[in-house]
Amino acid sequence: MKAALLLLLVACNGSDVAGGATDGPKVFASVCATCHGPAGKPTEAMVQRLGVRDLTAAEFRARVTSALVENQVRTGSKNKLMPAFEGALTDAQIKAVAAYVSSAKFPN
Ligand code: HEC
Repeated sequence: MKAALLLLLVACNGSDVAGGATDGPKVFASVCATCHGPAGKPTEAMVQRLGVRDLTAAEFRARVTSALVENQVRTGSKNKLMPAFEGALTDAQIKAVAAYVSSAKFPN
């Protein structure tokens, strides 16, 4: 019984791609920055290759909400170029990164 519980804990921890971090900036740095850039601005190569969106663009800042980011992170993009993170990130991590990306101080 104890062993099974331990295995479950290990399995859960292993599926957490952000390494247990629950603060927005840390989650962003570990899982979003690869494509979106460390400060939310993707490289030209990422834009060309995957059509990654600039999260600092005025057009995006004008319409961003925590719910928009949360939904995008949970389900990914329709064209699948952005993966769905539901299950790979915990609920707390998704909410934290959504609050961070939608906050006025992003990317600081
Ligand atoms: C594998 C690369 C990749 C990773 C990792 C990734 N994204 Fe994306 N993201 C994309 C792409 C590509 C798009 C544009 C999809 C489209 O064309 O619909 C996108 C779009 C978005 C949008 C929509 C912007 C808009 O204009 O409405 C948001 C918000 C977003 N990403 C946030 C995040 C967050 C937060 C994370 C980390 C949890 C993340 N992304 C991780 C590739 C990525």
